[in-house]
Parts: sequence; structure tokens; C-alpha cells
Amino acid sequence: MPFYNSKGIIPSKRHTVFKKNKKLLFEQHISREGFSGIYSNLYHLSMPTKLSKVGDFKSLKNSKVSYKHKARHLMSYKIKKNDDAIKSRVPLMFNNDIIISVCHINKNMDYFYRSGHFDELFYVQYGSGLISTNFGDLKYSSGDYVIIPKGVIYNIKYTKKTKMLIVESNSSINSPKKYRNKFGQLLESSPYCERDLCTPNLNKPIDKKGDFLVKVRLEGGIQDYTYNHHPFDVVGWDGFYYPWTFNINNFEPIVGSIHQPPSVHQTFEGHNFVICSFVSRLFDFHKDAIPSPYPHSNVDSDEFIFYSEGEFMSRSGIKEESITYHPMGIPHGPQPGKYENSIGKKKTEELAVMIDTFNPLYLTEEALKISEKNYHLSWIKK
Ligand SMILES: [Fe+2]
Repeated sequence: MPFYNSKGIIPSKRHTVFKKNKKLLFEQHISREGFSGIYSNLYHLSMPTKLSKVGDFKSLKNSKVSYKHKARHLMSYKIKKNDDAIKSRVPLMFNNDIIISVCHINKNMDYFYRSGHFDELFYVQYGSGLISTNFGDLKYSSGDYVIIPKGVIYNIKYTKKTKMLIVESNSSINSPKKYRNKFGQLLESSPYCERDLCTPNLNKPIDKKGDFLVKVRLEGGIQDYTYNHHPFDVVGWDGFYYPWTFNINNFEPIVGSIHQPPSVHQTFEGHNFVICSFVSRLFDFHKDAIPSPYPHSNVDSDEFIFYSEGEFMSRSGIKEESITYHPMGIPHGPQPGKYENSIGKKKTEELAVMIDTFNPLYLTEEALKISEKNYHLSWIKK
């Protein structure tokens, strides 16, 4: 992403002879938007193209199913599927811009994975572990956002049983442009800065020959590839393109005298969607302020909220790991009593991740299975 980094050893000039122990190293250029976007150069012990086998292809398609248009509560805590970080993924919603899934990790990956089609964002609900990549290692623990741009090869090993919310995006996932100056640096007024971002820790290159399975995610499925050397044979890299993490608790909330719109909670942006973090904060300080949101019609957005921790100020009947979905086309807002009862409240301890999409989302069969029957009627006081 956003700022220049250099790890390990690199030549003083790019695209020139670079040797280790008298052996020539191999440069790999990884870039966005052809050769016009951000990029990094990696230096390998082996050519990164040494493919020895093209294996099976597993088709993956989310198909549109028929259901009623209404607000929903998805009880993600009811999902029973556990496996490794890839195989345990359960897609819940999708459109042409993103796929939103959850996963429950209780196995380590015994292969490598590279998304050749999507940029990925994980939000770690609970658990901890290590994401090893060809750019180095990233530790993860609860509250972390992990951003893995397409093309990065990785393997995930858990140390504590893990649950993640996953966004696969057709476009790059970035810090919002409104938080950056013309040089790309995060502004003084941004709710987070470069110091809050964790970049990979590059260890010694792994110089191993053999069969190394890399599962590559493509638009329509996963293709198995076998390489004849370990993919983490990188001695160094530099550039702006790499995976990184940011913990939600490092998001410094912007508060005001009256209710602030969700846009002040924006944390990331992609094409046709934004991701916002609702974190612990002081409420509005105008003497007559109503801290709760007002009923609203975001006529251009579908709203997905994953409730991570605490009591959410405008909702009842939901708990940790609940997901609410408020589709465009109908207004939504605080539930009975929540609007009135918020008056005079001083602070909230809520923690939630919101994804607003500018095109309609579609629910999967799995999402319908965990959809609470009467959530859409919960605005009528019983
Ligand atoms: Fe909303």
C-alpha cells in the first residue's frame, strides 16, 4: 500500500546484476495498473516462474438465489464449518465488486495460496496466528485488519482458534483518499497514520527444492500449481506493494457536538464500497444531542455490519458475531427505544465493522440458513 518499504537485501540499482554467494539472484516486478501503478521488486534465489505441474481446477461460483427483499440479521455464530484458512470460508454475500465471507480456522494450511483475482481483507474477530508470505511474516490477533493484495503468496498457521470476516475485492483496498495528502502520506487529520500500520517481517530466504503446491484463486475457482522450489526464497524487496495489518483499536474516532455520520468512521475504500470501523468513543457533547443515529435512507448503499464486541447503541437482539444487512430501497434506523434512550449517554464501547456497497449485494444459500426469521419486523414494538 501506501508508503515505501525496503526489507532484506536489495541491489543499489534496480534491474542490474545482483548476486549472493556468487550466484545470480532473480528479480520479480509486481505492479498495479500495468506498469503505471504502485509496485515492488523482489529478489529470489530461484526464478519465480519454475512451474513443474498444473493440477486440478476447483470451480467456485456464487449463484443468485431467490429470496425476499428485507432487512436481515445473519447469526454468523451459528456457522459450524471449521477447517484451514481457505477451506473454511463460507461466502455470505456478494456482488460484482466484492465477496463477503466468514471463516473458522482450526487447521493449518499445508499448501500456499495466492489470490490471482481478488485483493483480500481479513478482520480477525478472535484467535491468533502467523501469516507467512513471500514478502515476510505478519502476526495476527483479534481486532486486526489484514490486507493482502492480489499476487501475494501466503500460508496461514493459527496459534489460537480463529474467526475472521473476509472481504475479497475485485479492486484494490486502500486507505481513503480523503485521508491522504497529494504525496500519499496520511494527513494529520486522518484517524490513523503510517505508524499504526504493521509491515511484514522478512526472515532468511528458504532455499528448498521439491514440490510446493500453490493454490491460485481465479475469478471462477482455484487452480492448483506445483512449483519446484519454495516460494519464500526472497532475500529482499522494496516498493509500495506488500501485505500489511492495522488493528481496529488504533483507529482514533472522530467525535463532534452532534451525531457524526458513518463517513467519519471510514477506514478503507475500494471500487464501489467502503469499510468503516465503529470503535469505543465519547458521544456527542451538544446539550440536546441525540447520540443514536437517525432513521436514514442511504438510497445508493447496501449496508452490512459485523458486530464484533460490546453493546451496539442502536440495535437490540443482536450479539457478538451478529451481522445485520439493511438493503437499499427501504429506510432503516435505531430500534424501538434506542433513539430515545441514547439521550444523555456519554460514551459507547461498541466495536463493529461496516461495509457499505454501492451496488446491491446478493445473499448466498448459507446466509439464508443463518437468517433470523423476524428481524425485519423488529422495529414494531411488541
Ligand atoms: Fe445505517
